[in-house]
Amino acid sequence: MDYISGWRLYAFEELLSTNDEAKKEYINNIASNVIITTNKQNKGRGRRGRSWIDVSGNLFMSLVISFEMKNLGYLSIISSLSLLETIKNISPDLIVNTKWPNDILVDMKKISGILIEKSEIDNRFIIGIGVNIANSPKDLSSNYYATSLFELGIVISKEQFIKKFLEFFDKNIKNFKEGKLQDIREKWQDNAINLGKDIAIANDDVLTKGKFVGIDENCALIIEEKNGSHKKIYAGDVYN
Ligand code: BTN
Repeated sequence: MDYISGWRLYAFEELLSTNDEAKKEYINNIASNVIITTNKQNKGRGRRGRSWIDVSGNLFMSLVISFEMKNLGYLSIISSLSLLETIKNISPDLIVNTKWPNDILVDMKKISGILIEKSEIDNRFIIGIGVNIANSPKDLSSNYYATSLFELGIVISKEQFIKKFLEFFDKNIKNFKEGKLQDIREKWQDNAINLGKDIAIANDDVLTKGKFVGIDENCALIIEEKNGSHKKIYAGDVYN
């Protein structure tokens, strides 16, 4: 075990999934603020039952943090905003966007994904983050294009990336605790892809269409339907 920016770091060579490791008892016995990383992830999981491909050299990490269940939407927004700020800090000229609920895109291509899961301990969550540092999966059956920092001409070590990310993450958590909720939402929304545009949200078999007008005070997605009424969306995949 090591420390990185005040967080306990458990770094592995090979794991099935950092999120699964984060659910183990030895982690449950530690107070909050733990990070698990692995160089190789053999059974990485993505949102909505998808898998997350192990591309050599990429970052796979899980953060364990105490947070109130009722604020879960903010954990998602804070995590993705912190990733956006990290990437922008590394390379200010890149076009980086947030995509609801918690993807990060560069030049409209996915560079990072987040899978938040509950730990067995009350009010503890696992934020699983994959960042394409070295390469991106070239899976043509996927419904989005992907990119990586390296493909964008940026060389950064995983350790440097984690350090920077934690600076932004800790700052945003502090802002949250100080009640700066609107500020957090605005920063996320100012960088959101497709704001003001027509989108479709697929949730299982249900497809909802409308204009993406923002996120509400619980970080749910708000769309404006053809008849002008507003509808809140709590889960799903967004398409344009
Ligand atoms: C998504 O976009 O579908 C979310 C992908 C989350 C992948 C990360 S990699 C580290 C952590 N461990 C996992 O098994 N998944 C997350």
